[in-house]
Amino acid sequence: MSAAVLFVTGTDTGVGKTHVAAGLVRRLRHQGRQVCGYKPVASGCVATAGGLRNEDALALMAESTGKPDYAAVNPVALEPPIAPHLAARRAGLAIELATLDRGLDALAERYDTIVVEGAGGWSVPINDRNTYADWVAGRQWPVLLVVGMRLGCINHALLSAEAIARRTPLLGWVANLIPPMQAEWQDNVDTLRAMMPAPCWGVVPTGSDLDAVGAALAPSGHMPWADGR
Ligand SMILES: Nc1ncnc2c1ncn2[C@@H]1O[C@H](COP(=O)(O)OP(=O)(O)OP(=O)(O)O)[C@@H](O)[C@H]1O
Ligand SMILES: [Mg+2]
Repeated sequence: MSAAVLFVTGTDTGVGKTHVAAGLVRRLRHQGRQVCGYKPVASGCVATAGGLRNEDALALMAESTGKPDYAAVNPVALEPPIAPHLAARRAGLAIELATLDRGLDALAERYDTIVVEGAGGWSVPINDRNTYADWVAGRQWPVLLVVGMRLGCINHALLSAEAIARRTPLLGWVANLIPPMQAEWQDNVDTLRAMMPAPCWGVVPTGSDLDAVGAALAPSGHMPWADGR
């Protein structure tokens, strides 16, 4: 398995992980890479004729190279929009780290680059014993932290960064200007630039489309993590 993998986490739910991950997948695809998004565990799925479907996984699928199967992008699909381990329990399941591994390893046989979106924030449980962080740290995936620029985000960003960097490489963070835009966003970004233990990859504007996300995060197109450098 030699695919480059990036794990995208966030300071909270609803901070723009999917927006950022889908933008990165699009940019990488436009560069000619065989790239796939991976959302191993998704709660908040909708029942369709084809089975349970999650909008994050569908967004990542739509940007991936070729036409990956839904189940390849989202092997664990759960209906209630609640914490994954609780959604799984309601479905009579217990999510195992090995399931996440199997899905990723299968993608890595077909793709050279994989962008993984977590669920919620860094320390979200996926079963009664493990958090997402345990899986990511076990595989030593590098991490990108999406900071949703809202009141309280400096604390959430610093706490998340400290917890991530203790266990696996924190490659960087992104300031995502989620609506409603803070009047003081620039001062908050400057504070984070000074205090975060990893570089800022860029500022994602409010209302940006996925092309603008890619341009904000990789202005030169160069993504060292994906090049293995
Ligand atoms: N820069 C932005 N400008 C405008 N809207 C944004 C921006 N970033 C995200 N959004 C919107 O905010 C909402 C939450 O974003 P997104 O779904 O990417 O968050 P998430 O962290 O992936 O959430 P979840 O924890 O549910 O996976 C979505 O409706 C998305 O379109
Ligand atoms: Mg999401």
